[in-house]
Amino acid sequence: MTEGSLTGRTALITGASSGLGRHFAAVLARNGAKVAIAARRMENLEALAGEIGKNGGQAVPISLDVADPAAIRAAVEKTEQDLGPIGILINNSGIAPSESALDVDEELWDRVMDVNLKGAWIMAQEAARSMIGAGQGGSIINIASVLSLRVQKGTAPYAVSKAGLLQMTKALALEWARFNIRVNAIAPGYFETDISRAFLQSEAGQRMAKAIPQRRFGEPEDLDGALLFLAGDSSKYVTGVLIPVDGGHNMVLA
Ligand SMILES: NC(=O)c1ccc[n+]([C@@H]2O[C@H](COP(=O)([O-])OP(=O)(O)OC[C@H]3O[C@@H](n4cnc5c(N)ncnc54)[C@H](OP(=O)(O)O)[C@@H]3O)[C@@H](O)[C@H]2O)c1
Repeated sequence: MTEGSLTGRTALITGASSGLGRHFAAVLARNGAKVAIAARRMENLEALAGEIGKNGGQAVPISLDVADPAAIRAAVEKTEQDLGPIGILINNSGIAPSESALDVDEELWDRVMDVNLKGAWIMAQEAARSMIGAGQGGSIINIASVLSLRVQKGTAPYAVSKAGLLQMTKALALEWARFNIRVNAIAPGYFETDISRAFLQSEAGQRMAKAIPQRRFGEPEDLDGALLFLAGDSSKYVTGVLIPVDGGHNMVLA
């Protein structure tokens, strides 16, 4: 995809304060999108906005807790006011606490669902309203996981939330196609970020790396092709799909 192919579009990226979301925001900005970067850690977002600005892009940092529906509505309004109607939503905020199933209490279950599933749902609804209001359609990209498709010990609520996100992707794609809104998902395998670092560096993590057909964890740049394809017009007849980006991991994960 050529640089600049998203020129004039407004993208809202949740969870842009670190890891993959930070990377997605920089890539979209480099390709011409105006980016609203949202999360709770404002200092990280301000630093990222500064970097994007220095590279000639436009970024607006927005304080957002996706577990708070009122904050989601406010974030969408601020995006519209500062950058215009939303054309691209990257539903990326996520948490992955590790706990064996019998020890998962209600509080942990609710927290994972509120952030990973309900937060993504309300975010998608509000972004869709912005897209429909502007009459332009748009592209919603949900950041799912290899655990949308497979399970692993110690991550039950996370896997349930990410499997739900996959069904949400299809359900919304079906209902919103008539508004020219496409809804797709990317399922990353394992990438070293704050969410996964401790596990990937453990012995079990190193063993897992050897079980991946490509025999390595992902680098953020490995996601750029799927991100730009789904965000831009090359995928204008693609909706309701999940693209695994995992070195073949989902074929073999036990
Ligand atoms: N790394 C992997 O191997 C991997 C694999 C598959 C899928 N994923 C998915 O990729 C996405 C990004 O994760 P990551 O790997 O980049 O980990 P990360 O660096 O921990 O990023 C998670 C992001 O989510 C945000 N977030 C968490 N709770 C939030 C809340 N209540 N409200 C708003 N934002 C919130 C965090 O920002 P604040 O703390 O500043 O709010 C942070 O920016 C997640 O959905 C994750 O499930 C990651």
